[in-house]
Amino acid sequence: MAKTRTAFFCRNCGAQSPKWIGKCPSCGEWNTYIEEVIQRLEPGTSVQASSRKTAVPTLITGIEFSSESRIDTHNQELNRVLGGGLVQGSVILVGGEPGIGKSTLMLQVALTMPGTRVLYVSGEESEQQIRMRAERLGMGKNDCYILTETSTTAILNHIAGLNPGAVIIDSIQTLTSESIDASAGSISQIRETASELQRFAKTANVPVFLIGHITKEGSLAGPKLLEHMVDTVLQFEGDRNYGYRILRSVKNRFGSTSELGIYEMQGDGLREVSNPSEILITQHEEPVSGTTVAATIEGLRPMLIETQALVSTAAYGTPQRSCTGFDTRRLNMLLAVLEKRSGFKLGAKDVFLNIAGGLRVDDPATDLAVVSAVLSSSIDIPVSPKTCFAAEVGLSGEIRPVTRVEQRVSEAGKLGFETIVISKLNLIAAKSQAKKIKIQPVGKVEEVFRLLF
Ligand code: TYD
Ligand code: MG
Repeated sequence: MAKTRTAFFCRNCGAQSPKWIGKCPSCGEWNTYIEEVIQRLEPGTSVQASSRKTAVPTLITGIEFSSESRIDTHNQELNRVLGGGLVQGSVILVGGEPGIGKSTLMLQVALTMPGTRVLYVSGEESEQQIRMRAERLGMGKNDCYILTETSTTAILNHIAGLNPGAVIIDSIQTLTSESIDASAGSISQIRETASELQRFAKTANVPVFLIGHITKEGSLAGPKLLEHMVDTVLQFEGDRNYGYRILRSVKNRFGSTSELGIYEMQGDGLREVSNPSEILITQHEEPVSGTTVAATIEGLRPMLIETQALVSTAAYGTPQRSCTGFDTRRLNMLLAVLEKRSGFKLGAKDVFLNIAGGLRVDDPATDLAVVSAVLSSSIDIPVSPKTCFAAEVGLSGEIRPVTRVEQRVSEAGKLGFETIVISKLNLIAAKSQAKKIKIQPVGKVEEVFRLLF
């Protein structure tokens, strides 16, 4: 019997070492090495030797190519995040916390791709469970096959027989490759099984979706390591308490990474939300203090979202600053600007900030809405619900211009807002959209206060 061989792997980046080391030389993380069994079936066959192909330098203009043809997934939000559809032969990692809805999303895609034979491989659920879920999601006309299998050799054999146009693996952590004697979900297995599937995708020119779990702490190495191997990394996220789910592209070799897909989890699966502004703004009966609306842009799509602030006298010595969906450091900066430039005493106050709908925004154009919400809450006077904001706030209290202001103004007008507050440096660009909505230019934070209250 062959001797059991082990090696140490970095949980963060997947680097390998023959002995334990405290600091990973490849990613610099401390204490991330764990021991795993690796036993190749044929000892002595070196990977380098077997996969060495002879390539010759080719003039770039002489390389033949066909412009990438995309497969329509019939899921507009997914198409958008992928950059306009599914690219043949690409490997897409769909990561997210357990229970967020990855299996639901992928099964739904598998069921709504008429004309494409999809193989859905599950190592987590039984055929009956998947069938039951498919019933709930509603089955249209489809060509979807279910396989409950975890061995990559068996999966690749079935693929060869079935000849699918797309493959979904749920999840990569359950797969095992026979060439490695380590348990499923271990770093060496994830690396091996993913590279086998990647090889298949590239040679057969078939797209493969890999579902991968990440825990809250990000402690599982798999997805981190996988990110380097795949073409596209999509992250499925959302607050479990809200119905909204966001599909974000973190890496994409075939499109922009700033696109968002928005879904709502319902009893019968995920519904695509094509007009997010409508759901992200709460309809208040009466204006409430501390609530403002920001005209943001995520990817190419303008989106009006609600920011809510609560300012109250600190109960303990050190005031608390807490954000949901917004960067806490950015909030601290905005509070410092308000304190220093416009004399608002916020140093001894607790400040809580919440972006409605469980969304996370990092568009700097949200700044002015945040500042206005904080001011409105601290003096307890509401801002008109027909007013929205789109500007960045600088360190000296200046109101800075933002990109694509025309689009923001036009979206706000479409949704029935009466006034939009922007930087005066954006005025010329925004003018063309001034038919439906009043444009209010401002230059300094102090002016905003005078204007609103
Ligand atoms: P699931 O896709 O199993 O999550 P993951 O694969 O990411 O672990 O989805 C889990 C949650 O989704 C589960 O808590 C129930 C909810 N859900 C619905 O609300 N409606 C539905 O139609 C389905 C199928 C699931
Ligand atoms: Mg699942």
